[in-house]
Amino acid sequence: MEKLIIFDTTLRDGEQAPGASLNKAEKLEVAQQLKVLGVDVIEAGFPIASPGDFAAVEMIARHIKGPVICGLARAIKADMDAAYLATRPAARARIHVFLATSKVHMQYKLKKAKEEILRLAVESVKYARKKCSDIEFSPEDASRSERDFLFKVIEEVINSGASTINIPDTVGYTEPDEFADLIEDIKNNVPNIEKAVISVHCHNDLGLAVANSLAAIRKGARQAECTINGIGERAGNASLEEIVMNVKTRVDLFPGIQTSIKASEIYKTSKLVSKLTGFVVAPNKAVVGGNAFRHESGIHQDGVLKERSTYEIIRPEDVGFTGTGLVLGKHSGRHAFSQRLKVLGFKLNETQLQKAFVRFKELADKKKNIFDEDLITIVEDQIKTVSETWHLDNFVVTSGSAIRPSATVELKKKGKHFIATSSGDGPVDACYKAIDKITGIKLQLLDYRLQGVTQGKDALGEVGLKLKSGGKEINASASSTDIIEASVRAYINAINKIAEF
Ligand code: KIV
Ligand code: ZN
Repeated sequence: MEKLIIFDTTLRDGEQAPGASLNKAEKLEVAQQLKVLGVDVIEAGFPIASPGDFAAVEMIARHIKGPVICGLARAIKADMDAAYLATRPAARARIHVFLATSKVHMQYKLKKAKEEILRLAVESVKYARKKCSDIEFSPEDASRSERDFLFKVIEEVINSGASTINIPDTVGYTEPDEFADLIEDIKNNVPNIEKAVISVHCHNDLGLAVANSLAAIRKGARQAECTINGIGERAGNASLEEIVMNVKTRVDLFPGIQTSIKASEIYKTSKLVSKLTGFVVAPNKAVVGGNAFRHESGIHQDGVLKERSTYEIIRPEDVGFTGTGLVLGKHSGRHAFSQRLKVLGFKLNETQLQKAFVRFKELADKKKNIFDEDLITIVEDQIKTVSETWHLDNFVVTSGSAIRPSATVELKKKGKHFIATSSGDGPVDACYKAIDKITGIKLQLLDYRLQGVTQGKDALGEVGLKLKSGGKEINASASSTDIIEASVRAYINAINKIAEF
């Protein structure tokens, strides 16, 4: 068996997606789940980018044992020093150095000639190697780089101590056959390539990130860089779950290749990343979309009932999709509740369990049928890692087709009670204006999304917000059977998130 190393960059390239920013505690929560999922390498961030990034990488390096913890660095000493210091607490650390090798990047972005790029690449890898035994080098924009120059850079950085050579398709320009040829050419033209692992890092600008990664794996790449749900710069990165499930499902095309991913954790990881980043997963998204395992047509349903494999190439439970079967109701007790959470893969401490149970009981009073999806949503709401600086005490809205909506909102902060009233363009707007009056925080609403967690008139509504405050974009979400309440709670969650930045 040959190992395909899964290098997860959700917390670095994924978090570079506009509006996906996570706070420190959220990053740790994602890293913890990535460890449970079984990724081999966690690229935890770009430590030089900001003190917050540095602190998050360091915290992950300190707390997450098992996967290699990697920090990104340009071919600049200060970057490599920061990556070294931030990853130093890790049991196994890696510094990932990148430097562009394409003509367009060298000429316009770096304003450097080939000779200087080669010298910088070599010196940087040597410098980083003195600090850390595990060095990855990426010739940025490799897929648009002149081949002979690319081969030379790769050969020299391997001689200088890089043990992983990552081939990025930085702008998502390549096509599967072309990318496969590039990997083959690298193997045939870089004399010392056997001393390094070939990695691939594909972007999705033309929708081919996964296809390109798979084509490269079939030609011998043995590390795939990817993100949960495919989030990332612009159109995103190759999606981890799609790469893993392709390799697993098409053993005939990927003979003898194995990953260490625990596939049954995929769905939960996807939900967590979606929740914390506020990036909703499209219903038709492969492997983790809400419709990925739903058979609507009668012919398909009939086929699946007779023999699942007629229309199912992946069993939902293989990726941890538990379905939306009716599980609990108003009369379910704490034991049944905690048992079900265990089945869903949650490990809650006593306080979290108690909070979630209270919320479950409140929900069960309003909603007859409680589905797994409801449970996942309320539990994730409860264990959110944002501390409650502002707490919602009460709200009242008046709305109708012939009156201007108004709202009175009552909040608490450190035991102190605040109340404000405002009118607005709608009941949600009125609530938000009343909250703004109380907190005095200026927020610009960029996006408001409402979706039903399950079906039915009493379904839990989940509101996802994207807001801007002081140049920073924040995502927040909340759920309730009352969509105004979900909207208000999501807004307060965003305000509490700002308090933590
Ligand atoms: O897309 C890219 O080229 C990158 C590098 C830093 C590897 O993200
Ligand atoms: Zn990238």
